Amino acid sequence: MRPEQIKAVPMLDLTRQYQAIGAKMNEALQSVNESCRFVLGPEVKKLEEGIAAYSRAKFAVGCASGSDALLLSLMALDVGAGDEVIVPSFTFFATASCVPRVGATPVFADIDPKTFNLDPAKVAEKIGEKTKAIVVVHLFGQATDMVGIQKVVQDAEAKYGRKIHIVEDSCQAIGAELNGVSVGNWGELSCLSFYPTKNLGGAGDGGMVVCNDEKLAERVRVLRAHGSAVRYRHQEIGVNSRLDSYQAAILNVKLPYLDEWTEARGRNAARYEKLFAEAGLSDFVETPKAVGNVRHVWNQYSIRVLGGKRDALRANLAEFNIGTDIYYPLGLHQQECFAYLGYKPEDLPETLKATTEVLALPIYPELTEAEQEYLVAKTAEFFHK
Ligand SMILES: Cc1ncc(COP(=O)(O)O)c(C=O)c1O
Repeated sequence: MRPEQIKAVPMLDLTRQYQAIGAKMNEALQSVNESCRFVLGPEVKKLEEGIAAYSRAKFAVGCASGSDALLLSLMALDVGAGDEVIVPSFTFFATASCVPRVGATPVFADIDPKTFNLDPAKVAEKIGEKTKAIVVVHLFGQATDMVGIQKVVQDAEAKYGRKIHIVEDSCQAIGAELNGVSVGNWGELSCLSFYPTKNLGGAGDGGMVVCNDEKLAERVRVLRAHGSAVRYRHQEIGVNSRLDSYQAAILNVKLPYLDEWTEARGRNAARYEKLFAEAGLSDFVETPKAVGNVRHVWNQYSIRVLGGKRDALRANLAEFNIGTDIYYPLGLHQQECFAYLGYKPEDLPETLKATTEVLALPIYPELTEAEQEYLVAKTAEFFHK
């Protein structure tokens, strides 16, 4: 189809993926129905092994969502009352909501404007003697500067004489790498989400904790099942956060396609870069960049719209049925539920700026060249009219 024939570009269209592999998905669900093993079971075990291998890590434990993966990780590290946990504010809510849920205090740190990820220097400013853990988020599919984060943590551990844990929120970043090392191998525990919009998405909620420490993996396994390793014996108080077999069966069908899909996302990102450059939009739009020796997996493609025009551009694109989204319109430090922490919006200036500028464009693997050309042409028309 030529760009001038296009009538709409959805932000995400999962039906295109279903058209390609739907028959296999249906077959997998039918086999779960026939087995009647609906919770955990062989499909979940297969997925745990598959994800551990894919992440080049030793262990993976399935759970009900990425949000629960974060909660279980903090529980497994014994984070609790009196502890502080450093988190970004420019992220999805679940990165920080797990902290008060274990009784600890979130401490928000600002981001690097080029990557949207935690800035190690800003983390260093926030580390203190109460810091028990840092949750880094590999936002939009790009790994955080983990070398910088590890250095800051080592310095602080030497200064305060206590262990500081690193948890990776890899919910948007399955398959992402830094210096050839996959996410999931930088922190002690790494959290994945299989929410349908993720690069590896299920048919509902699902999550996983990936790690290389057998004791921690076992602790998460026990915590996800009401703190019980032996049936009806509860060694501690956990939660009910099991991954169901339907989700695992769908994800087992999809996992072998993940690298192919990730490459297609990368090609789409490169094409946007070229199209925006050719359209002469650099005074109006800043395209996102892969920074350093990374494998960016492009879960989102978030441009910055300069000059206060983001919302007007978004509304204009919507008139041409072009879907976009805003991740995220408000920093977590500005959320009502965190007002008790006493942050002012300008305490995290890069986060505040990003919330007013970012606009996520469609980037899914099945997006066509003509659709991208149409989107960029309409963006150029908006700025050049
Ligand atoms: C960065 C980040 N953290 C955590 C989550 C929570 O994952 P879930 O929706 O599976 O609970 C998500 C996904 O929504 C996310 O994008």
